Amino acid sequence: MVRAIEWVDAGADSHIRLIDQTLLPASETFLEISSVEQLIEAIQSLAVRGAPALGAAGGYGVALALLEGARHEWTETELDTAIDAVALARPTAVNLAWGARRVAAVRAEGFDRVLAEAHAIATEDERANRELSRLGADWLLERVGHRPLRAVTHCNTGALATTAWGTAYGILHELHDRGMLELVYVDETRPLLQGTRLTSWELHHDGIPHLVEVDGAAASTILRGLVDFAVIGADRITADGDTANKVGSVALALACARRGIPFVVAAPYSTIDVATATGDLIEIEERGDHEVLNFGGLPVATPGVRAFNPAFDVTPHDLISAIVTERGVVEPAATEQPLFAPDVAVADH
Ligand code: MRU
Repeated sequence: MVRAIEWVDAGADSHIRLIDQTLLPASETFLEISSVEQLIEAIQSLAVRGAPALGAAGGYGVALALLEGARHEWTETELDTAIDAVALARPTAVNLAWGARRVAAVRAEGFDRVLAEAHAIATEDERANRELSRLGADWLLERVGHRPLRAVTHCNTGALATTAWGTAYGILHELHDRGMLELVYVDETRPLLQGTRLTSWELHHDGIPHLVEVDGAAASTILRGLVDFAVIGADRITADGDTANKVGSVALALACARRGIPFVVAAPYSTIDVATATGDLIEIEERGDHEVLNFGGLPVATPGVRAFNPAFDVTPHDLISAIVTERGVVEPAATEQPLFAPDVAVADH
């Protein structure tokens, strides 16, 4: 299984190794990241991406900042600024700032402790993904029927988007391993094609039958009865269960509600943002015009035309059949609010 992000231990030259996801599947190129500036560039260009992988990047980013700060004799304020810059490199996935803040909180205990905390984020993420995949597969088979299922998914939620195994992808993988997955429709995921380039690459490697479809086909695929459920990941889930994920996700949710089939969100608990009450309050990243107005590296629109390029959308909780985390399954469409709060336990599955 490919690792999206790893820490390379090399004394003072220790650094982060990323597979450059902007080049997949054409080229498997690794980036050796040894400065905060390089890490921020990798995050913003989507060389590393996906909420849980960004959580690990935030954590390892603090370790990197400490090493870089020691090399350049940064003041505490300069170190703070560097850590903040990592935490805020992209706004929507809560995991990035969560990872950076969690690791920064142990900074006073020294570099070894910082690195151990960053490693803990990665280890916990893999464990969470494997557990939520089992829970999600159980829930789906119980809800839809014990037979090979057909799914639609959006964006990329596999090992590349996490530290290992995947979230929504992990559920699909788990169903496949149980002989309970017939076919996956993979949305191409405009404009950066995480579905076509990344999810399809992972499904191909895992031997999972799939078809890539344009994003515009997804609602009709659902309404025509070609799939039994939709499953997506999440970048931020607010206290009421509203879910930000890659733009295009909400179209799947609307179509599933109309067709009466499950729309499932899968994410580690680190994606739940209990401090934000509702989806209206989530900052949606807007990216550059060129991503929309170019195709295959060439400009395709009339010169001077501007684009609207939100990277994410928010699916209201009442359209979500199940939110699956490693702590259990909640059913937002059928549950009193708030779903998630520091003192509200998630019902065990
Ligand atoms: O812009 P990206 O590629 O970082 O967006 C990623 C997604 O929207 C994923 O679906 C989400 O982060 C969940 S990854 C397990």
